[in-house]
Amino acid sequence: MTDSPIDSVLEESRTFPPPQHFVDSANQTPADINQLYDAAASDHTGFWATQARHHLDWHQPFSSVLNASDAPFFRWFEDGELNAAYNCLDRHLPERADQTAIIFEGDDGQVENITFQDLFARTCRFANTLKASNIGKGDRVIIYLPNIPQAVVAMLACARIGAIHSVVFGGFSAPAIRDRINDAEARAVITADGNYRGGKLIQLKKTVDEALAEGCDSVETVFVYRRAGIDIDLNSARDVDWDKAVAEQSTQCPPVAVDSEHPLFILYTSGSTGRPKGIYHSTGGYLLGTICTCRWTFDLGERDIFWCTADVGWVTGHSYIAYGPTACGVTQVMFEGVPTYPEPDRLWAMVERHGVSVFYTAPTGIRALMRQGDEYPERHDLTSLRLLGTVGEPINPEAWMWYYRVIGGERCPIVDTWWQTETGAHMITALPSYTTTRPGSVSKPLPGISADILDESGERVETANAGGYLVIRQPWPSMLRGIWGDPERYRETYFGLFDSFTYVAGDSAQRDADGNFRILGRTDDVVNVSGHRLGTMEVESALVAHKSVSEAAVVGRPHDVKGEAIVAFVILQANASADNLADELREWVSKQLGAIAKPEEIRFTDGLPKTRSGKIMRRLVRSVARGDEITQDTSTLENPQIVKQLQAEGH
Ligand code: WT7
Repeated sequence: MTDSPIDSVLEESRTFPPPQHFVDSANQTPADINQLYDAAASDHTGFWATQARHHLDWHQPFSSVLNASDAPFFRWFEDGELNAAYNCLDRHLPERADQTAIIFEGDDGQVENITFQDLFARTCRFANTLKASNIGKGDRVIIYLPNIPQAVVAMLACARIGAIHSVVFGGFSAPAIRDRINDAEARAVITADGNYRGGKLIQLKKTVDEALAEGCDSVETVFVYRRAGIDIDLNSARDVDWDKAVAEQSTQCPPVAVDSEHPLFILYTSGSTGRPKGIYHSTGGYLLGTICTCRWTFDLGERDIFWCTADVGWVTGHSYIAYGPTACGVTQVMFEGVPTYPEPDRLWAMVERHGVSVFYTAPTGIRALMRQGDEYPERHDLTSLRLLGTVGEPINPEAWMWYYRVIGGERCPIVDTWWQTETGAHMITALPSYTTTRPGSVSKPLPGISADILDESGERVETANAGGYLVIRQPWPSMLRGIWGDPERYRETYFGLFDSFTYVAGDSAQRDADGNFRILGRTDDVVNVSGHRLGTMEVESALVAHKSVSEAAVVGRPHDVKGEAIVAFVILQANASADNLADELREWVSKQLGAIAKPEEIRFTDGLPKTRSGKIMRRLVRSVARGDEITQDTSTLENPQIVKQLQAEGH
């Protein structure tokens, strides 16, 4: 078990009941929520079947709700057929063709309103473009785009023809793209020439060219959207200009009905080995999870302007930009830039400018903006806000209170939503008209989600505030369906600890006497930097790939803004010199994996604590990195003296 990153929250006793004015105008009343809980408790699969019939439009209705005969490979609504893009676009057209789907604000401040009709037409045109390049059902397509509406169009266009997209975050480097292309055996890449973020040019096409320069034989076509208007190399045998291609295509493209279990997308995330995992999701179950949670957690409805500040490159941007809000027919804001450009009031200016009512962001961003001072939010009228959300890591009570007071004007409930790339949608969260919230607590599992806490032997932890493994005891529709190409790793990673029905999240958690959950941190070798997961072994692999490095151990250390920062302990090759190497290695990792993975600190050493079987004891390294007193048993170490040495080297 990891240690709690925040000890002070244990004393947190402030509680915030749902404000009466919110309850009075909520789309989901407390009575509605009670009904959902009751229905889910009395019949788990029946409950989800009702939700699936209510929230989704099916080309072919399902009769089988859950097939668990091959657990942990679960199949939901398996004989049903539907199309995700149809559910996000076509079905809204009779009633809301002219309603804005996306209010897009570019880095440079330019605003564009895209109606559901526009989004539909653009999606059809691009889907036809994909088809013209012979891309169809089951083909994998890598999307490497900025956070612009074309990313949503690209995702929905894939979904429309049954192609499986895999979005790679625009901050990732060429080797990371190459790995993902090869793992998914992608036939196409969709990218942009480049774009500006915070006024800085990001050269996406150049990075794709670099990725494709070695291997990647599966890629036949690269679609290039001109966003930056910069000069790029075009390979006429392979590259297709987006604007030119779509101009020739029709604005009608029939949706391909796929099985509910047909994979909608693959999204790579970090695990505890060096290789990223291609988490893949189904069409029906996944879409259902995003819709239900947009309705339940965010209380979204007709009058809302929703804004999720995540990038489409992460699961949050999949579930709460591309799919959930569009499937609910809700107007949303999408933003290409960064919170501090041109000034640290950018987000608050945008809330005011676009009249945002429901705002969803990450604790790392809240902390960063909190540090800039209250004068930035105070410049703006934020009274359009009615609900605030957070996701990605535990939020410290200080940041929670600032969010509540300064951004929400002590008027807006805060929903702290626990979920993962693997869970597809919110799992444990407050419900705004229903829950009495506490800073730092993620409250209770949603209806139909059987979250629990188990000890090492699989017994339920009954004692209040005792830690244990966070698990989900019954399958749920939006759960991952596997790790691309590696069913064994799926079984092992998520169902290996207890049994094939008990999903192990990889987090430790505790529950108070009222049943409210608190997330303590990861139990595996994953670091959470600014709400993004990084496998310590991925960073280690990148380090040892450098010619001067012999061995490396990477751990996380608490960081005021990022949540955790990466510290790397490095053993050099015999003839290598440490002079000027720390910066070189930091840049090296950034080049290999992307800037998020850049270590905060590199410490050179000539030994690491290892067990007799040769495994690095990361827990000890972590304690050293944090400057904690060593209380762990070091007797099984092959080289017990190394701990003192490492500590001394740190001073
Ligand atoms: C991990 C999942 C889910 C979208 C963003 C991250 C941590 C997530 C919370 C929260 C405490 C949280 C967990 C989880 N996490 N939300 N509200 N409170 N911790 O997705 O990259 O798949 O990471 O993020 O450790 O396992 P992800």
